Amino acid sequence: MGDLTGELKKLLALHGQSHVLRFFDSLDHEQKKRLADQVRSIDFELLDSLASEDSSEFVDFADIEPAEFIRLGACARNDERWRRAHEAGSDALAEGKVAAFVVAGGQGTRLGFDGPKGSYPIGPVSQRTLFEIHAEKVLAASRRYNRDIPLLVMTSSANDAQTRRFLEEKQFFGLPADCVRIFRQDEIPALDRHGKLLLERPDCIFMSPNGHGGSLKALWDSGTIRWLSSRGIEIISYFQVDNPLARVIDPAFIGFHIIEAAEVSLKLLERTMPDEKLGVWVRMNGRLRVIEYIDMPPEKMRERDDDGRLRFSGGSIAINCFSTSFVRRLNERGFQLPFHRASKKIPYIDEKGRRVEPEEPNGTKFETFVFDSLLFTESAIGVETTRRDEFSPVKNAAGADSPETSRRDMSRLYADWLRAAGVRLPVDDHGYPPFFIEISPLYADSAEVLRQVYDGPEEIAGQTVLR
Ligand code: UTP
Repeated sequence: MGDLTGELKKLLALHGQSHVLRFFDSLDHEQKKRLADQVRSIDFELLDSLASEDSSEFVDFADIEPAEFIRLGACARNDERWRRAHEAGSDALAEGKVAAFVVAGGQGTRLGFDGPKGSYPIGPVSQRTLFEIHAEKVLAASRRYNRDIPLLVMTSSANDAQTRRFLEEKQFFGLPADCVRIFRQDEIPALDRHGKLLLERPDCIFMSPNGHGGSLKALWDSGTIRWLSSRGIEIISYFQVDNPLARVIDPAFIGFHIIEAAEVSLKLLERTMPDEKLGVWVRMNGRLRVIEYIDMPPEKMRERDDDGRLRFSGGSIAINCFSTSFVRRLNERGFQLPFHRASKKIPYIDEKGRRVEPEEPNGTKFETFVFDSLLFTESAIGVETTRRDEFSPVKNAAGADSPETSRRDMSRLYADWLRAAGVRLPVDDHGYPPFFIEISPLYADSAEVLRQVYDGPEEIAGQTVLR
């Protein structure tokens, strides 16, 4: 270990981080090895540039315009354009050209659930987990198109082992084991106010996942892009683990991606409130981008057209399509997404080895965002959907975007489908039924399918689950 310490000492001294070895001599062999491995995995050049404030991406808001997107009005279900897209997407699915990709590497801090977020029981009646709902949607689509649709799952160090165990124990919810591919994203250390690394334990530097943008590199580093190509898969249908309403395989969306020859496609909502917490779809210096709501100038967030609608109307809900060839090109050429900074309270051990739980933010975490991949493409599109149909994320333990709101929104969507199929059931002015309703994706995964297969009563008067 002598040489090793020398090597580490030199590296850390060069970057002003020698304090990381403060407790090294008191560690046992295993702990020393662990810390040494962790230090070696860090890109210190990158960290040095992050420590200097001017590494932030320069964003010039002078030349920012709302960006155009395919509107729902123009792609209503019976519209010719929508029909063509649906057909193109269905063909791609039947030819086995599509994989589903769930990013599940986040830490779920706001939800505060003990376990990977994907194992959170969200089903309003059945308590189905988020992973189960997503996997059943993939299974339903693969049955419909009579082709395997692989499910890619991105984890992070903090939840990888638990996620694997969970999915294996549940036998991948019926998906063939060789169609589920689990891989880990990279981590990046946080820095304190003085640009120093923080120790979580004497043998461990505090690190966190590098943001959902890390998925584009993780797809490559894990060999997944090669694996997809060897199966003839050309399109990755990307979504986040915490949105049970996501249509994880949407033929029309996939079809628009194909017809418009896009490398990146995004689903967008019409923003209705200035402070809605969605990334905003813009054209900036001629390039399509999504700008996080906190980074947008507040006056732009409030601007309205003559008809009273918000001028910057597209809000991103993190349901995307990526062409496999695009992810390959990024990685073959080498790319770096910009890092976004977040001030956080980061527990650490001080120079005496005492654990400190700060009451105020004491450091910065760095994350990349998947939509910044738009910086690297000329061919991107946005396609409109509605919140009611597709977006109700589980972010917080209570209040907005919580399990409670998400279960209510799921029940409302299923009530919509049932009513469209001619079933009578009570709803309030906003369409919410007074009881929970749940429909397994294996029973029906859209209003159209439900209309064809529904074999229940003509009237529903209480809690119901269809499976
Ligand atoms: P969020 O950042 O909104 O939520 O991630 P979170 O990380 O789960 O929870 P908080 O912020 O700690 O409360 C949105 C989606 O992106 C994934 C998450 O798993 C979630 O599906 N994600 C986020 C990653 O896969 N990796 C990351 O590094 C960050």
